[in-house]
Amino acid sequence: MDSPSRSGVFQAQTDKRLEAFAESISFDRRLYRQDIRGSIAHADMLTQRGMLTNQECETIRDTLKEIEQELDAGTFPISFELEDIHMHVEQALIDRVGDVGRKLHTARSRNDQVSTDVRMWVREALDQVDSRLLTLQRAFLTRCDQDFDVILPAYTHLQRAQPVLAPHYWLAYIEKLQRDRGRVGDCRRRLNECPLGVAAVAGTTLPIDRDQTSETLGFDRPTANSLDTSSDRDFMLESAFVLSLIASHLSGWAEEWILWSTVEFDFIKLPQAFCTGSSIMPQKVNPDTLELTRGKSARVMGNLQTLMLLVKNLPLAYNRDLQEDKPPLFDSFDTVIASLELAAPIVEGSTLRRESIANGLERGYLDATTLMEWMIRKGMPQRRAHHLVGAIVGEAMNQEVALNELPLEVLQSHAPEIDESVFEILGSKNAVAAFVSYGSTAPDQVQKQIDRWKSSLS
Ligand code: ARG
Repeated sequence: MDSPSRSGVFQAQTDKRLEAFAESISFDRRLYRQDIRGSIAHADMLTQRGMLTNQECETIRDTLKEIEQELDAGTFPISFELEDIHMHVEQALIDRVGDVGRKLHTARSRNDQVSTDVRMWVREALDQVDSRLLTLQRAFLTRCDQDFDVILPAYTHLQRAQPVLAPHYWLAYIEKLQRDRGRVGDCRRRLNECPLGVAAVAGTTLPIDRDQTSETLGFDRPTANSLDTSSDRDFMLESAFVLSLIASHLSGWAEEWILWSTVEFDFIKLPQAFCTGSSIMPQKVNPDTLELTRGKSARVMGNLQTLMLLVKNLPLAYNRDLQEDKPPLFDSFDTVIASLELAAPIVEGSTLRRESIANGLERGYLDATTLMEWMIRKGMPQRRAHHLVGAIVGEAMNQEVALNELPLEVLQSHAPEIDESVFEILGSKNAVAAFVSYGSTAPDQVQKQIDRWKSSLS
């Protein structure tokens, strides 16, 4: 059977090698629900505008539903001879109902059909991403109460910097994921214009109603320029970017928890259900889920590059290159959705190693900046306080003690204005309690943020 897209102009059959080279059915088959939904909306509109009779429309609708059920059940025959899912569905319709089926493609091209189908698919996939981002935010939020009493080192340059409450870390990820959700929403809003009816590239001379199909398919409005629409893949690139940033956030978090789960850090115990063993070393409990989350993010970012390169040199409007857009797009959604689905139970099921964290907490001079600010509050210029505390830390390092283990006289030998009350801000616990600024790790600030998220994420 030769493709229905080969008109009477062809006098030769398709070379088999082209068939295999050009098919997209192997990856666009997953668009069948969107394709059938789009076709039914299109048939309804053609009927409204007098291009199909009610009877013909009913036949088309019923047969398309029957085809959909077969696709659902996996009994629908798939073959490379028909290039893509759109051809498969249309040809099956024609095989079953003859000339009535041959009318469905009136005032439609695969160019607007594919773009409409993929937009509907991406819209649903973005909603799935959003709900999984929310689930992950909630997992981090649940940890906030349970870990409120734990203090962790905050790092810059992966060197110990200042002490923070453990929930300050969890809230940091909730913020990142919230921005991700904002981008998902922006992307969804911008893509939600309906291409159907721009036909191949210039529109149609037939009396269609684009507002009707747009509304039926849940779009906000029809797209405004047929040339633009025929070529437009911005929504895919935007999605691929949004997904790349989510993957980047997940990858950074995965890297952090991989480090934290090492004997060297010993901050966290990962749930064994998401770890694997070694075939030779019996002691190993490896963080493979986190490693794969980090590793798979590379694919997601690569997919964004693939899409960027795919479109960058294309003149208006549709070019067949665009068929190559789907594998990277689908792969990015699949990968990020799977990563998010595994992240939530890992966040929920991990436990902080409180003792080990506490045992090491006074190493690394997390309270040095607090001491500097204490001196500033006593009236010392910042640069002098900075220099001076550096010297105090140097001395403590030489003696291998914490700042609050230095005798008062030693502190006073560096700065006579230091008195006994300095010990109220030294040590990680005191240092955390000393914070006051908005957005800081000050316990009351952190509590307010937790409360805010509790009301907005519930
Ligand atoms: N199978 C193609 C795709 O998935 C559809 C090609 C549509 N247009 C065309 N003029 N060949 O993108």
